[in-house]
Amino acid sequence: MFRTQAFMFFFLLELKLPKAKGNCNFIEPQSHCVCSLLESTGMKNFIQCLPAATYELREGNLEEFAGFAGIKPDERIVEILKALQVRKLIFTDLFVPENILPSAMEFVSYAPLVSELEFVNCTFLRTSQWPPTGRLNMQVSSLRFHKVTAAPLDDRLDMAQLKRWLKILQNLTVTESQVTSIPCKIGKMFTALHFLDVSGNHFHDRSMESSFCEGVFPQLQVLKLHHNNLTSYETVCKTIGHLKMLTHLDLSQNGFLPRDFSSSCMWPHSLHVFNLSNTGLEHIDRSLPPNIEILDLSANNIFTLDLSLPGLKELYLSNNSLQTVPSLSRLPHLEVLNLDQNQISELPSKGLKHLHSLKAGHNLYNCSCSHHIREIQDLAAKPSLLPDWPQDYICKSPPHYQDFLVKDVPLSSLLCNKALVSHGSIVNLLISLYLIFCWLPVPPFSDTSFHQL
Ligand SMILES: *[C@@H]1O[C@H](CO)[C@@H](O)[C@H](O)[C@H]1NC(C)=O
Ligand SMILES: *[C@@H]1O[C@H](CO)[C@@H](O)[C@H](O)[C@H]1NC(C)=O
Ligand SMILES: *[C@@H]1O[C@H](CO)[C@@H](O)[C@H](O)[C@H]1NC(C)=O
Ligand SMILES: *[C@@H]1O[C@H](CO)[C@@H](O)[C@H](O)[C@H]1NC(C)=O
Ligand SMILES: *[C@@H]1O[C@H](CO)[C@@H](O)[C@H](O)[C@H]1NC(C)=O
Ligand SMILES: *[C@@H]1O[C@H](CO)[C@@H](O)[C@H](O)[C@H]1NC(C)=O
Repeated sequence: MFRTQAFMFFFLLELKLPKAKGNCNFIEPQSHCVCSLLESTGMKNFIQCLPAATYELREGNLEEFAGFAGIKPDERIVEILKALQVRKLIFTDLFVPENILPSAMEFVSYAPLVSELEFVNCTFLRTSQWPPTGRLNMQVSSLRFHKVTAAPLDDRLDMAQLKRWLKILQNLTVTESQVTSIPCKIGKMFTALHFLDVSGNHFHDRSMESSFCEGVFPQLQVLKLHHNNLTSYETVCKTIGHLKMLTHLDLSQNGFLPRDFSSSCMWPHSLHVFNLSNTGLEHIDRSLPPNIEILDLSANNIFTLDLSLPGLKELYLSNNSLQTVPSLSRLPHLEVLNLDQNQISELPSKGLKHLHSLKAGHNLYNCSCSHHIREIQDLAAKPSLLPDWPQDYICKSPPHYQDFLVKDVPLSSLLCNKALVSHGSIVNLLISLYLIFCWLPVPPFSDTSFHQL
């Protein structure tokens, strides 16, 4: 009980926040406390929130907390902060005056368990000068901004003050916030960063060069640049080539222009996951990272493909323009293949049966020939190979089976025979002979084989 009272005391009196109002809700299963500033009934229900590991403050204008800016935590407050169980702080739908941030960070420095900070749909209100911070020893290792707006950082923020903290930060997310670049000087301060997500911003080819200058993010493993304004595949390759720890690169939803033939470039050899989904590619005539295990090429306009990637395990080709199954002979370790939403008319079971998972629904299956249907059914018979079977396997031709499920087409070899005979090649003749022999009531060679036994 001491802690409860102490905490309330700290929160309502010590911070001199007479205008603090709001209503809190404790969501027990997630140990998440949400306090809204909109309701003007005082800090109602705050006590039930005391065991929460995540605190979220929503909806309002923190200018009314401006008094906070000058407050320094004294010994008693430090004791309370040290006892807190909070791990994550979230600020949602708020106006945040910049000048309260340094004090807020100083308070957070004393709460040893707070490792994640998140700002969602917040507007940072520019103030002329950031007050100097004192001791800044935050243990926050994960920082996320989503849909935030702020004035560009210029001289009013002395980044050197933050250096000690930026050095330990591991995860940084700044999504859908109209960011165009990261100053080279600042990128170099993130010496421990593992994970950087800047998706949904306005990074473009030129700003890539400055943002990923030599020496930034030396520990970076995951980089997400999905949905930006990148147009040159080669520029991305050149600018991130020095990130020697990078294992995962997401470039999906950028519009790459047809190849500029200027130069070839080496991707980091550490890259294992590469996402080129929805980037306007028509063919892959560009260099790919040599050691990739997962390659996503879905939602492009690829109509032929011939890859040679010895380590590749998963290949995603959904929603392209493929008319035939690409050759897998130089992908010896492939386990997962998605070919759904293409224009493929046949699935040759031989080359595909060794896969662990194959998605090939929503194609234009040719159901004229029982041989082709048998091949698909053969694949479907292997447990869990075709997760989208049977509902997504639909005949496109011939007209009288259009929109039939492949599984429902009656298996009549006559159909196949007719088509074959009309072509009249030697191969077709041989296949017809084979079919005739197979249909004989007694296999013609069985007698001899029995005698030999
Ligand atoms: C974002 O926050 C503002 C108030 O700061 C609010 O009016 C708006 O509805 C919020 N937008 C979304 C998408 O939640
Ligand atoms: C960083 O993000 C990754 C991926 O979202 C997550 O698995 C990891 O736990 C995070 N690390 C920290 C320190 O928050
Ligand atoms: C990014 O691309 C979008 C859409 O193509 C465009 O509206 C926007 O102006 C571009 N932004 C920048 C910074 O280039
Ligand atoms: C690639 O990015 C898209 C979003 O653009 C996402 O839906 C997809 O899951 C990603 N692929 C992989 C393999 O992570
Ligand atoms: C298929 O890819 C196109 C881009 O090539 C994209 O616009 C469309 O949304 C994708 N369709 C589906 C169903 O994913
Ligand atoms: C379907 O396969 C048959 C037999 O191989 C062939 O004659 C026919 O042209 C094919 N139909 C289409 C639409 O490809």
